[in-house]
Amino acid sequence: MTDQPPAYSGPTRVLSGVQPSGALHLGNYLGALVKFARLQHEMDTFIFVADMHAITVWQDPAKLADQTREIAAAYLASGLDPAKATIFPQSAVTAHAELAWVFNCVARLGWLDRMTQFKEKSGKHKERSSVGLYTYPVLQAADILAYKATHVPVGEDQKQHLELTRDIAAKFNHDFEAPGFFPLPEPLTQGPGARVMSLRDGSAKMSKSDPSDYSRINLTDDADAISQKIRKAKTDPEPLPDNLEALAARPEADNLVGIYAALSNVTKEAALAEFAGKGFGTFKPALADLAVSVLGPVGEQMRGFLADPAEIDRILAKGAAKARETAAPTLEDVMKLVGFWRA
Ligand code: TYM
Repeated sequence: MTDQPPAYSGPTRVLSGVQPSGALHLGNYLGALVKFARLQHEMDTFIFVADMHAITVWQDPAKLADQTREIAAAYLASGLDPAKATIFPQSAVTAHAELAWVFNCVARLGWLDRMTQFKEKSGKHKERSSVGLYTYPVLQAADILAYKATHVPVGEDQKQHLELTRDIAAKFNHDFEAPGFFPLPEPLTQGPGARVMSLRDGSAKMSKSDPSDYSRINLTDDADAISQKIRKAKTDPEPLPDNLEALAARPEADNLVGIYAALSNVTKEAALAEFAGKGFGTFKPALADLAVSVLGPVGEQMRGFLADPAEIDRILAKGAAKARETAAPTLEDVMKLVGFWRA
């Protein structure tokens, strides 16, 4: 006998999202977008644009809706098919905010105090950050659990938020005596693209907030920009090694090999087998060609989708309707479990 509560036994479902708060880069693409497109063939898939998360820091109201359309265009360009996956804006489904409030009363301050992303984003001016930035991971838990999602494809930087989601789900199930009501969702972070580092510094994450544009490849960069950024990427003078241990000691080389592997959908071992003993004079042009061949069409398709914003709006509206319908029964059950008045 164990005293483990019964596990969730509902269907599997994928859910993830990206914030519309700046240009998308290669890290977002490899850590998240390509996985969305793969998973839609395996499971019921919900992918949203996290506009409510975006406003935890200031966003120009005149631009936010267009930024949302841009993320939707990136989803479509990277292969998400609206006939297979449900694509929608977070703010169009009020269930996220409603569930987040209940979860604000389940999560403990001590849990949120441990969140490293808040510490990074609030920097030295914690007291001037929005309250939303602090409770950001609670809203993320609501995003996931409103749909009882079981699998969440994200980059490695989101692992801690997923642990918090699991803690909230377990505490809710326990406190409201509803064993197995919410699943404990699994982060899907496997593969060499889960943590893409800056092209200028192998110890820093590739990020939209890095002041140097040479630190990242943007999804909208043209072939020349992509090649130039890879040519200028920081490296060391040694040829590439033939094993992962030796590679791990060289962060910049490790990052470029990881990018090569992720872009060609092979393991880092397989990429090393191809280039062991060769210098960056050989490897960088091969990586640049590969990056241009994969990302060039994505950027082009993004521009194509953005040329027809009315079509994007139709896709988002249809997705929002399906998302509302899917989340509604869960929210109704939550209201009853919490004991709120129902007529
Ligand atoms: P966001 O918008 O910061 O990033 C979107 C996705 O890109 C991944 N990512 C990276 N992956 C690899 N290498 C990098 N350098 C890199 N930089 C970013 C992120 O891990 C993420 O998967 N909190 C989320 C948005 C969100 C969400 C959710 C995700 C809100 N609610 C519910 C999943 C489920 C975020 O900030 O993503």
